[in-house]
Amino acid sequence: MTTSAEVHYERLLAAHYTWMTGGDLRSAAEDQAALLRELGVSPGSGPAPARAVDLGCGPGAQTLALAALGFFHITAVDTNQTLLDELALAAAGTRRTAAPGSPAPAIRPVRADLRGALPRLTSPGGVSAIVCMGDTLTHLPAKEDVPALFADAARALAPGGRLVVTYRDLTRPLEGTARFLPVRSDADRILTCFLEYRDADTVEVHDLLHVRTSEGWTLHTGSYPKLRIGADWLADRCRDAGLEVVHDAPGPRGMRVLVAAAPARDVSDGS
Ligand SMILES: C[S@@+](CC[C@H](N)C(=O)[O-])C[C@H]1O[C@@H](n2cnc3c(N)ncnc32)[C@H](O)[C@@H]1O
Repeated sequence: MTTSAEVHYERLLAAHYTWMTGGDLRSAAEDQAALLRELGVSPGSGPAPARAVDLGCGPGAQTLALAALGFFHITAVDTNQTLLDELALAAAGTRRTAAPGSPAPAIRPVRADLRGALPRLTSPGGVSAIVCMGDTLTHLPAKEDVPALFADAARALAPGGRLVVTYRDLTRPLEGTARFLPVRSDADRILTCFLEYRDADTVEVHDLLHVRTSEGWTLHTGSYPKLRIGADWLADRCRDAGLEVVHDAPGPRGMRVLVAAAPARDVSDGS
């Protein structure tokens, strides 16, 4: 049975998410910090202390990466409480290991839909970086949600602030057995994903999770829709929102990387 992404994470994926992405949140955060650094995301460009927002944060690989880069206030938004709890635990570890005398970053996990979250949680021009990474954008229910999100991001970003999106471009359909994608397996769990192309804008993702028990293997299944978002379409939506596309290219783990910048303040306007 197909459900919303929120219900799918609740019923199936959240409990296995960190395992699915390699099993080591710290090392995932280090990889994400290296990527963000390479993309020129830094706390230096906006108002101090630097604020960032992680939309669809999951267990927090990008939130922890932003903290490691020196962002001080990080608001981490997700609909899934299990993943937010995992992030809160990791954030507490960050506070414990902060160097004596140096202030630990303030990480604020918020359970909310990312649609409409920015105007409620930030003030206009108050944020130096907004990230929506790890294929979160494709989880939105409708393509029309994307321009609305980018308009919110353009309002929230400080001049020169960055929006970073990493996502899978699912516009080119796979065929036959190529639609079965092995995600991760070990001695006790096997996760396979099957893609069913529903229409030009949507693909149905079927997750098949085998878990070894004392009785043998148990199969858990669930399905949810993902958006099919093309690179040109996404870059055009950024420009429509008044953001400048500064990077748009394939990135790690089969994802595309888009970075857009809020226009720098016009020095002639006296503001
Ligand atoms: C593929 S995971 C990415 C998590 C994390 N950014 C990473 O890279 O590991 C997508 C996340 O977005 C969350 N999510 C999906 N739709 C959402 C929405 N409308 N509002 C807030 N969170 C959402 C899910 O609960 C999940 O944690």
